[in-house]
Amino acid sequence: MLAQKGNCEVKIVPMKVFVYNLREFDEKPFFDEISAQLGIEYRYTDAAPTVENASLAEGCDAVSIITCPVDEPRIRALKDAGIKLIMSRTVGTDHVDKTAASRLGIDVLGITYSPSAVADYTVMLMLMGCRHFKYMLMRSIAQDYGLKGRLAKDICTQTVGLIGGGAIGKAVAKRLSGFGCRILMNSLHPDKQDEDIKNIAEYTDFDHLIAESDIISLHVSGVEKNRHLIDRTAFSKMKNGVMVINTSRGFVMDTSALIENIENGKIGFAGLDVIENEIGRYYYDHEDEVLTNRDISIINGFPNAFVTPHMAFYSELAVKDMVFNSMRKIKEYFEK
Ligand code: COI
Repeated sequence: MLAQKGNCEVKIVPMKVFVYNLREFDEKPFFDEISAQLGIEYRYTDAAPTVENASLAEGCDAVSIITCPVDEPRIRALKDAGIKLIMSRTVGTDHVDKTAASRLGIDVLGITYSPSAVADYTVMLMLMGCRHFKYMLMRSIAQDYGLKGRLAKDICTQTVGLIGGGAIGKAVAKRLSGFGCRILMNSLHPDKQDEDIKNIAEYTDFDHLIAESDIISLHVSGVEKNRHLIDRTAFSKMKNGVMVINTSRGFVMDTSALIENIENGKIGFAGLDVIENEIGRYYYDHEDEVLTNRDISIINGFPNAFVTPHMAFYSELAVKDMVFNSMRKIKEYFEK
């Protein structure tokens, strides 16, 4: 098929995408709109990819996935179905065995999307920590309207340490500057061009940040070298009563060490949207099942800690970006 682009005729490669885990209640209208715009044909299921259902993708060039486990057997099955590209509608792609994919000659890509959802959520967790919100809500449901144990920390008095200075870390810093916090930032690639960040955050090394901060928030990527970046040693260097926030990846923090440090009183508040070994569990209703990740129940049992089900990303802007940007990236990939 030929099409006119400016003065020249360009070859249009008809593209077919198979979408796994498509949510009809929010993603479908976006898939309809962008696929019509880009001339991409798509088919879908609400199921996660399995070896058994890989044949659904037969005749397609790429599959679109979210954070479901994609291991070697699944990748092999997708390759057998003729798939050349696995496109994750997520920033992190740690749920895909990329070593196996590269051995099998399948490319794996992720996307970027508006950081506002995760940044807003992060600030919300910090404010909830400062206001003892979980404890206050639980107690007030039981009609305990006392003040004891609820005295808030004013966020403007807090030194906030952001580990990771990418799009999300910077968006969090910009929001916090409005509250008047002192902001420390640790980044592998300090952004010297961003004048706002230069004015509101102080770049510093990891050890200094964790020792100085009242609130520590993680915004690093989900790569293997960041596994247990926050371990027992890191916790031991933090201030007593420190608040820790994680909206990045669960494995960046050693969960057993976190639990120990909540129990021994070191941690004043832990607000987590991610936790180790969460993969494959979230975004489904497990109401009648006996689940095996005890850490979630342990953490949710503390008055000063909670885990939310990896929802920080979930906003209208981000979901639209996830669908649009992933489909655009698939098109670019096959047209390059
Ligand atoms: C990502 O985009 O990397 C996320 O963490 C969001 C995903 C769980 C849908």
